[in-house]
Amino acid sequence: MTGTPEGNRPATSSSAAALPPPSADPNIGPTLISAEQIAERVSQLGAEITRRYADRPPLLVGVLRGSLVFLTDLMRAIDLPLTIDFIAVSSYGSATRTSGVVRLVKDLEQDLGGRDVILVEDIVDTGLTLRYLRKNLAARGPASLEVCTLLARRSVDVAAQDVTFVGFEIDDDAFVVGYGLDANQRYRNLGHIAAYVGPGQ
Ligand code: IMP
Repeated sequence: MTGTPEGNRPATSSSAAALPPPSADPNIGPTLISAEQIAERVSQLGAEITRRYADRPPLLVGVLRGSLVFLTDLMRAIDLPLTIDFIAVSSYGSATRTSGVVRLVKDLEQDLGGRDVILVEDIVDTGLTLRYLRKNLAARGPASLEVCTLLARRSVDVAAQDVTFVGFEIDDDAFVVGYGLDANQRYRNLGHIAAYVGPGQ
């Protein structure tokens, strides 16, 4: 179906029209992890998950919205008859700081009973979201529950947090955007991971 002529017209008067594209945005700092590095690591993680879950196809649970891009690439790197579902949480706070209060804003559609679940996260920062989700999902009786995160802060003890799969470690003081991660809901469509150097830092 084609859109109306009005619907196809680019916006000219909204404030969004005045914003630069991510590729030319002064709030985007240096590239920390390139698209090529991400692709290579995602393919390694996919191969590892394929090996480990060969006899028990997993249910990937993506945490909206940050893990969306990672999950869509990761699932295609896994050669198993898997299924996916999404959960959304919010933690109130400023552009770059979480408030410490996690709230469920969208629940899963599938029953986790007896399923081999892999929780797919964008970043383990303080670990608060992960602790909340782990407790919430574990209470639903999955056969197993493991965690795969694209990023983890260097200071996070991933073993203690029981995170099985980690894409990359990043510095504690770098607030990053791109490849699904945002600052004030922007920059998720950047193909690489960059330092955010804009307001709110
Ligand atoms: P937590 O502190 O581990 O609970 O992290 C909560 C959430 O904060 C993550 O899932 C991200 O959505 C967000 N977050 C933490 N650090 C960053 C960052 O550097 N960039 C973008 N989002 C972040």
